[in-house]
Amino acid sequence: MKKENDLMEKIISLCKRRGFVFPGSEIYGGLANSWDYGPLGVELKNNIKNLWWKRFVQQRDDMVGIDAALIMNPKVWEASGHLNEFTDLVIECKKCNTRYRDDLIPGKRCIKCGEKDFTEAKQFNLMLKTFLGPVEDKDSIVYFRPETAQAMFVDFKNVLETSRKKVPFGIAQIGKAFRNEITPGNFIFRTREFEQMEIEYFIEEKNWETSFEYWRSEMQIWMKEVLGLKEVHELEVAKDELAHYSKRTIDFEYEFPFGKKELYGLAYRTDFDLKNHYKDGAPYKEEGGEAFYPHVIEPTFGVDRSVLAVLCDSYQEEAERVVLKLKPQLAPYKVAVFPLLKNKPELVAKAREIYDDLKKDMMVAWDDRGNIGKRYFSQDEIGTPYCVTVDFDTLEKDDSVTVRDRDTMKQERIKIKDLIQFLKDHV
Ligand code: GAP
Repeated sequence: MKKENDLMEKIISLCKRRGFVFPGSEIYGGLANSWDYGPLGVELKNNIKNLWWKRFVQQRDDMVGIDAALIMNPKVWEASGHLNEFTDLVIECKKCNTRYRDDLIPGKRCIKCGEKDFTEAKQFNLMLKTFLGPVEDKDSIVYFRPETAQAMFVDFKNVLETSRKKVPFGIAQIGKAFRNEITPGNFIFRTREFEQMEIEYFIEEKNWETSFEYWRSEMQIWMKEVLGLKEVHELEVAKDELAHYSKRTIDFEYEFPFGKKELYGLAYRTDFDLKNHYKDGAPYKEEGGEAFYPHVIEPTFGVDRSVLAVLCDSYQEEAERVVLKLKPQLAPYKVAVFPLLKNKPELVAKAREIYDDLKKDMMVAWDDRGNIGKRYFSQDEIGTPYCVTVDFDTLEKDDSVTVRDRDTMKQERIKIKDLIQFLKDHV
């Protein structure tokens, strides 16, 4: 376990050192388990979200997106079952009063004081409450959404009327969700504020198994081919552990340094949600047909867990360097540009010209500190796939630059006029 913890510590330290993820509110002593994405982290996260949106919304005819309010009418959570069912069992150490999620306490021994005497397990609702407006009474209680999913059901009719989609079709959303987790932890793995990318895919009941299999394979392709994760495991969730809305769920698990844990989920939500929100009648009807409640397959993807899995999977220590072997499309910077020497204005000017030109098409880093070897290693550590060096040959001989590949560390000369195309082809 020590080795795994070391790896996690190294990743957390790299994230802080290089600006991927910082502890939230740090100058005030932090806020338990809250994290801020820094300049590189936000690029990595946005790359994941943009690839997801492009792939699952923009490039498909059967999908549309929404971006709904985080706080919804509390009746939504009554109808969805979250007010009653969205609970975890909590136990409390009788000695120091620390609370734990019942299933997450190893050896049933208090992590804080070592005591083994706990209270009976009690249900604890995970929704984060607040008050809307100036009066703080029970009528002004509202909840931050614990999943993005519900807006896709509540907006179902509006989407249908404006998009004229026909079943089968899906509604997607990327956004924040909040849960008052009893035991948050493991860096950005389990937090109280996190982001989800969710699809509610509406189908006829008779097609649920085919659709489930289809989305299962789409999720596998996303994880393996788009994110580049080497290995993902599937866990069939036992019937007695299914969420209150699900008839079947598969968890996709990733081997994080702290153990094999849920990365994403795929659920068959039946017509549970639409039936509860549209009690006055079925919300879907095709010309000449009977109105009915479409059934739902839900592929759900955690954004922060995607970032964490990608970081863990791509982190490598080699003889003299640490390298993030990120898929180029995920890397915060696609290329870094260096003048060989920073005190030679003609080299700097040429390198700047190339840098400015590339910047129109992609994220480019600039570095003129230290020697070239150090600059390469510095870019390796943040996963930049290519480094471009402008040297005296560039100016005097061949109008070419040295392009160094992050993974092979090989260098080749490429004509400046061909550089953009080369990079576009490779990143
Ligand atoms: N709409 C279905 C739903 O919300 P879920 O399994 O509870 O299902 C979906 O959550 C995904 O959201 C998870 O697979 C995970 O990636 C992410 N997630 C859930 N709770 C999280 C937390 N506390 N911190 C970070 N990510 C979380």
